[in-house]
Amino acid sequence: MADHTTIEGPKSPSPIGTLKPEVPKKSRSTRTLAVANQKGGVGKTTTAINLATGLAACDQSVLLVDLDPQGNASTGLGVSADETDVYEALIGGGRFEDVIRASEIPGLDVAPASADLAGAEIELIEIPSRESCLRAAMAPVLGQYDYVMIDCPPALGLLTINALVAADSVLVPLQCEYFALEGMTRLMKSIERIRRSYNENLDIQGIVLTMHDSRNNLCRSVESDVRAHFAERVYRTVIPRNVRLSEAPSYGKPALVYDLACAGAQAYARLAAELLRREGVETSGAAAE
Ligand SMILES: Nc1ncnc2c1ncn2[C@@H]1O[C@H](COP(=O)(O)OP(=O)(O)OP(=O)(O)O)[C@@H](O)[C@H]1O
Ligand SMILES: [Mg+2]
Repeated sequence: MADHTTIEGPKSPSPIGTLKPEVPKKSRSTRTLAVANQKGGVGKTTTAINLATGLAACDQSVLLVDLDPQGNASTGLGVSADETDVYEALIGGGRFEDVIRASEIPGLDVAPASADLAGAEIELIEIPSRESCLRAAMAPVLGQYDYVMIDCPPALGLLTINALVAADSVLVPLQCEYFALEGMTRLMKSIERIRRSYNENLDIQGIVLTMHDSRNNLCRSVESDVRAHFAERVYRTVIPRNVRLSEAPSYGKPALVYDLACAGAQAYARLAAELLRREGVETSGAAAE
């Protein structure tokens, strides 16, 4: 794992310190989660950043792999891809461990992305094992982490396929809007194809409703359809529409550090606890409520 510096917020030295529950450290094998939805702007990156931070606050060691050429997960955590990025390990023959950077959050490392990764979609086509390059590249570092989260680009191209082949399960952020269920059908078909051909154990970790507004009728009606259709796969925790969540990336900080008290940060802390409960990891304290 990369070295971590202490968080230096403007006033409070470690805002997530107050979140930190007494969680017994368990030695488990690494769980790799792909945060995927081919629809753009549904909250994949916001979920990847804040859930990864929430898991780190629950004493899990976490690697966030930015697999989107937009690089939003990297910049949103204040990590630059100036020196090297995921492209180097995926295509360029570099070692994955050389790509990994420490974030300001104790326990959270980042494998950053730059625009170079856009070329990977094309270059991967030429490689015989094009679907499993990420799995092979990440293999040497996996054992160092409790969780690896992969932030996928908004497409079902080769980068997302690489994430799904490398993952144990998929976490799907879903915005409660018209056509949300149609998009889910396509994603489910892709997951089924990957399961049949490359990764028979791939499952759905869960579906998280994002940018939720309970005063909005359409939002409530889509939520009840999604819950009726996907039942217990949908997390009980919903992420509200919250302006602090959208402000935080411009400061290079997760919302859990930028403003831990805001409704969005609190929802992601609850989501981290719910995810850990689903996985049978005991949690206690603030983040588990
Ligand atoms: N719960 C929320 N409340 C308010 N704004 C949000 C919320 N979640 C995400 N946003 C904002 O919505 C926009 C899209 O979010 P995000 O970048 O996380 O989506 P994405 O699915 O990763 O997008 P892309 O498909 O382009 O990768 C961003 O400006 C983000 O700050
Ligand atoms: Mg994104």
